[in-house]
Amino acid sequence: HGYPHTPGGEHKPWVIAHRGYSGVAPENTLVAIEAARVLGSDWIEIDIGISADGTPIVLHDTTLNRTTSATGTAAQMSDERISLADAGSWLGPGFIGQRVPKLRTVLANLADFDGNLLLEFKDDWSPGAIAQVADDIMATGMADRMILQSFSPATLTAVRDLIPMVARGLLRMVPRPEDKTLASDLDVTFYNPSRRGFFLRQALLEEFMAEGYGCLVWTSNVPADWERLMAAGVHGIITDHPGRLQGYLSAK
Ligand code: G3P
Ligand code: CA
Repeated sequence: HGYPHTPGGEHKPWVIAHRGYSGVAPENTLVAIEAARVLGSDWIEIDIGISADGTPIVLHDTTLNRTTSATGTAAQMSDERISLADAGSWLGPGFIGQRVPKLRTVLANLADFDGNLLLEFKDDWSPGAIAQVADDIMATGMADRMILQSFSPATLTAVRDLIPMVARGLLRMVPRPEDKTLASDLDVTFYNPSRRGFFLRQALLEEFMAEGYGCLVWTSNVPADWERLMAAGVHGIITDHPGRLQGYLSAK
């Protein structure tokens, strides 16, 4: 299960900006992604869904309700309707004008990014929709700097078949022993638990790491966590506050 990139020379965990730099900017928008890029986060995590036109878009929820000025289910909305929604004003007037980005726009913006992209497929994806993501990835040449992750085994199976050149990760709330068979069947490189799952099943997580899986833990925002995660040797920490995590790690 080896992964070509390794965390920093002293085996510090990677800093992974959750939904972009969501601690300072509206999640999964261009300004949040740009803030993480400028910070020099090792990785940027984003979530993707698909519009009714079949365009991959960067959005965490199934609907636009929580994070935009519009309401409705993204998969039932046209690109045009989605593009009209304001995805920044919910966090403050300074972010008015942010939109729900298209995946291909984000990939193009990250072409000269010195870091890596952790892309989460939200919900279940059809092969046709995954093929659209494959097209976007191929068009921008980021394949060797990405991990594709999902909670859904069916989606990961289809991703393996359609985008085989990109590393994959299985997301889990709480790790279970039977996930070893699942992770092996899915041929994933990463096994990524919640922070709660990590603390509940640390010994099991350490078994996954000993067997060669990379382990990226989400979403962890406080130094008390980071101390324990680092001591356990996890490969990356997914955080809303990548700046604070950078500062914490540089003092170590
Ligand atoms: O990267 C994994 C983590 O983001 C999963 O939880 O709800 O923030 O997408 P969520
Ligand atoms: Ca996510």
